[in-house]
Amino acid sequence: MATSSRVSPLDPHSPQAAAIAELFTNALFICGGVFLLVTVLVFYCAYRFRAVDDQEPRQVEGHRGLEIGWTIAPVVILTVLLTFTVRAMTASDGPIDRDPDVTIIGHQWWWEVRYPSGVVTANEVHIPVGKALVFRIESADVIHDFWVPELGRKIDAIPGRPASIWLEADDPGPYVGTCAEYCGVQHAWMRILVIAEPLEQFAEWQRQQLLPASPPTQADTVRGAAIFGSMACVSCHAIGGAVANEKARYAPDLTHLGDRKTLGAGILTNTSAELGRWLRNPQEIKTGCHMPDTQLSDQQVRDLVAYLESPR
Ligand code: CUA
Repeated sequence: MATSSRVSPLDPHSPQAAAIAELFTNALFICGGVFLLVTVLVFYCAYRFRAVDDQEPRQVEGHRGLEIGWTIAPVVILTVLLTFTVRAMTASDGPIDRDPDVTIIGHQWWWEVRYPSGVVTANEVHIPVGKALVFRIESADVIHDFWVPELGRKIDAIPGRPASIWLEADDPGPYVGTCAEYCGVQHAWMRILVIAEPLEQFAEWQRQQLLPASPPTQADTVRGAAIFGSMACVSCHAIGGAVANEKARYAPDLTHLGDRKTLGAGILTNTSAELGRWLRNPQEIKTGCHMPDTQLSDQQVRDLVAYLESPR
């Protein structure tokens, strides 16, 4: 597994996630208190009002104090729970009337990431630290669910019905997210990495991502580019500026693949060796994914790796 498994909604790193964690803890204590009270009362009553000498205990009817008590207590408890719930919802639900800062589109089985600046990437979102961003969540096929537990709420990605949430990170770092709605055979390998970094670093990343792909110059990268353009790759993947098919959105954009941490939505670490293994036969690594086994030769794999990893 390429990405760390450090994923806990009880370790919040944003105001949104903190509000959700607070709601969870408060609800747990309140419900735990009610459970404890009921359990104690059940045992107390079972003992206190047990049958003695086959005599029924004295029956009480219409106890005014009890009636008032067990009407008011639940109203108070539910009001407190409602207050915490509304607070968590207000903190995490994004505004519907604001243009998104990032658009996330769920695909079987990867995440497409689009910025208004024109940056397109996959399975990895860079954000500036300490800034509340509006994330718009969409789906290209079936229902997925976007969830980065340490940063915010879960939200379904429903085809034709975009939703928006606030996403923010208090501290720099990678945060692991995942698809949280069963969406097919590779649902488990639909990870997303949110990389929060200081504003200057984020701006520099964005500037780099916007650079057009420069044409290959080395012998192997030239051969790799030719394979990319002539084989099946180009009909699904885009490499901005290098091939005609910039509209390709069926599979992850590979313009700056070399900068990403993982391959196959988190299943492999992005190294030359792993990329080669992936290209040789993706079906062996992520069975059922939409990338076919293209029967490349060892030489073709080496050239493609060189091309895909070459700096742009
Ligand atoms: Cu996408 Cu589960």
